[in-house]
Amino acid sequence: MKKGLILVGYITVICTINACRKKDTQTATESYSPTAMSVTVPAYVAKYVGSMPMTGTNPMTAEGVELGHKLFYDKTLSNDMTISCASCHKQENAFDDPRPFSQGTNGSFGDRNAMAIINLGWNTRFFWDGRRASLEGQAHDPVTNPIEMANNWPEVVKRLQNSTVYSDLFFKAFGTRTIDSNLVVNAISQFERTLVSFNSRFDHFYFEGDSTALTAQEQRGLAIFVGDGKCKNCHLMNTLFTDHEFRNNGLDANPKDDGLMKFTGSAADKGKFKVPTLRNIAVTAPYMHDSRFTTLEDVVDFYSSKIQQTSPNLDEHMPEFGSGLNLTTQQKADLVAFLKSLTDEDFIRNPKFSDPN
Ligand code: HEC
Ligand code: HEC
Repeated sequence: MKKGLILVGYITVICTINACRKKDTQTATESYSPTAMSVTVPAYVAKYVGSMPMTGTNPMTAEGVELGHKLFYDKTLSNDMTISCASCHKQENAFDDPRPFSQGTNGSFGDRNAMAIINLGWNTRFFWDGRRASLEGQAHDPVTNPIEMANNWPEVVKRLQNSTVYSDLFFKAFGTRTIDSNLVVNAISQFERTLVSFNSRFDHFYFEGDSTALTAQEQRGLAIFVGDGKCKNCHLMNTLFTDHEFRNNGLDANPKDDGLMKFTGSAADKGKFKVPTLRNIAVTAPYMHDSRFTTLEDVVDFYSSKIQQTSPNLDEHMPEFGSGLNLTTQQKADLVAFLKSLTDEDFIRNPKFSDPN
């Protein structure tokens, strides 16, 4: 049997005595008894990065996740009911958008590539420029962003409040039928925390010791990634493939998008962007904050010979390369092959994360 099949289902439902005890509610007939839940991860993940941190203000429950799952796919959230979160964060693309720039409800485009939603429970700064500090905070923005869902919260709340299906789901998740924006983003964030991906061939090889899981070429690519390529300096080998920092990898001598500086206002942050995870990178094209690269070959070409040494605040790890790693054609192909081994087929197909409607 394939390992992938054995590993299906990371999420266990843990019913604690407290959470399962019936709580007093205002009506005699209704009882609020949510099922506490945590995200379980393979032992090697817990070893490197610990279990997923949970927030005290938004404890995860099976009912909250179910509600968040439905909301994530619900077009009711957008002004003209044409797009949901999933319109720009597609499961088959590891919850990224294959379009260079996502299109909002009024046909307008932003100027940044959408970001994959993978293992974000360990993250504390969101967006390419880090302007949000929690998943809950992040989820407020697309609903009202004029180039995304272009809606307003009173309207969203009114629509949800008029639905008996949602009224029931909110009661089950939060013990109240009075919906507000905070409960909406709490539920969505709970669902997003379940989007964990640690089941790639690379994991079977590197963390689980299955020496046959990677081909010889992929193993050569891995050696470049952790060795001379220094990729792991920022895309850490700690199972998450990111150090969660904001860095300038030298794309432009004069960055058009200020990146982190947009948020902090500090010139020392100009050109710095969130170090993205590389998990499922084969399915999240195009690449970089502005989608400038269409293929992984383009990305590797960049790291090989096109690093802009005069870029402001070029990261301390980058000058070691000179203008690049000067990889041979064979080495480039090896590195690309390795990056493609980071795809988690279960994650991008699992019905547990698919459209529930
Ligand atoms: C119109 C397309 C679009 C829609 C709709 C949309 N997003 Fe996004 N999302 C983006 C783009 C583009 C970015 C990156 C924007 C930036 O950095 O300025 C992003 C970034 C994010 C991030 C940050 C990821 C990270 O690693 O920091 C999360 C989380 C996210 N979106 C969740 C959601 C949720 C939840 C919804 C629905 C409430 C949603 N998005 C709706 C396009 C979209
Ligand atoms: C100095 C830290 C650093 C090093 C070293 C580094 N990267 Fe990156 N990487 C980044 C940052 C930051 C971004 C996002 C840049 C942007 O969009 O402006 C990125 C983006 C990427 C992307 C695109 C991800 C996406 O979702 O669009 C790939 C693929 C990638 N790097 C692969 C590599 C490989 C392969 C190496 C080694 C040859 C490497 N990186 C070395 C920091 C680094």
